Amino acid sequence: MKIAVLPGDGIGPEIVAQAVKVLEVLKADGARIEMETAPIGGAGYDASGDPLPDATLKLARAADAVLLGAVGGPQYDTLDRPLRPERGLLRIRKELNLFANLRPALLYPELAGASSLKPDVVSGLDLMIVRELTGDVYFGQPRGIEIRNGERVGFNTMLYSESEVRRVAHVAFGIAMKRGKKLCSVEKANVLECSELWKEVMIEVSKDYPEVALSHMYVDNAAMQLIRAPKQFDTIVTGNIFGDILSDASSILSGSIGMLPSASLDEHNKGMYEPIHGSAPDIAGRNLANPLATILSVAMMYRYTFADLATADRIENAVKKVIAQSLRTGDIWTEGTQKVSCSEMGDAVVAAL
Ligand code: IPM
Ligand code: MG
Repeated sequence: MKIAVLPGDGIGPEIVAQAVKVLEVLKADGARIEMETAPIGGAGYDASGDPLPDATLKLARAADAVLLGAVGGPQYDTLDRPLRPERGLLRIRKELNLFANLRPALLYPELAGASSLKPDVVSGLDLMIVRELTGDVYFGQPRGIEIRNGERVGFNTMLYSESEVRRVAHVAFGIAMKRGKKLCSVEKANVLECSELWKEVMIEVSKDYPEVALSHMYVDNAAMQLIRAPKQFDTIVTGNIFGDILSDASSILSGSIGMLPSASLDEHNKGMYEPIHGSAPDIAGRNLANPLATILSVAMMYRYTFADLATADRIENAVKKVIAQSLRTGDIWTEGTQKVSCSEMGDAVVAAL
């Protein structure tokens, strides 16, 4: 299996280095994997003037799976829009057709106190958000900033075709079937035509999955319900921008955004695996970041692309063990636990493996 390793910017290189240590252990144990590293985001721009250099895209296309850190940083915010790091990330998602983004939120019991919500609200939480990743207002045309009637206007287009909704619906129903057989489709159909179509297609696809209870919720209510009573949800399916926002909110349910991995899959389960958090420029280069979301992303790689559930479990159990050992990076630290650095956390996971 070929893995393209794209560390990116900010804390990306530090957290990816810990995940690579985990992969090296698996390799030493006989896993037939090859890793090759390439720049993306600001690092891609610095290396060759493009946030998604041709060579990086080529490597990612040839790979079975991609491991990505994070992109972005304040020094790139004034570049022309097509040159900004985030565009590199959006382009690789689109180029590889990674339309289904799986963002699980799971609470490790020991971290209940690290969440800003009451422990009884979050304890036992196990939620999966399926976010459509290659459509919506992120990619819809036309888009831009232009002069109209003597002033600047900014505009984007929220757009979904029924085939785009249908394919992510099938992924979400499939996942719901393997979980609690409850799927909540989140949209804003009381206002947006795009959401109206989304909802219609969800209902059509639900006929193929009679065992799954499909419900519908407006996104504003979903945002409230996620922090009011998150355990009412099993699997959520939603569009690109609503999923972006709701998945950040759901990370707080699991103690810290530093804990949440993700998988972005195409039709053939080729995938890109990345933590859902960003590049955290404020703590970059200081060995403070939480590498667990990235390490758990490797577990998802084994689960979804390599279909090696035993290894996925092995990685997840190693993470459970270091949490049970009371080791904590700053973001999940609470009184009475032991604060460790990013690399120490990586070493502890390796030892637990
Ligand atoms: C995410 C991020 C990205 C997104 C940014 C960095 C472009 O927030 O993966 O959630 O909006 O999709
Ligand atoms: Mg986001």
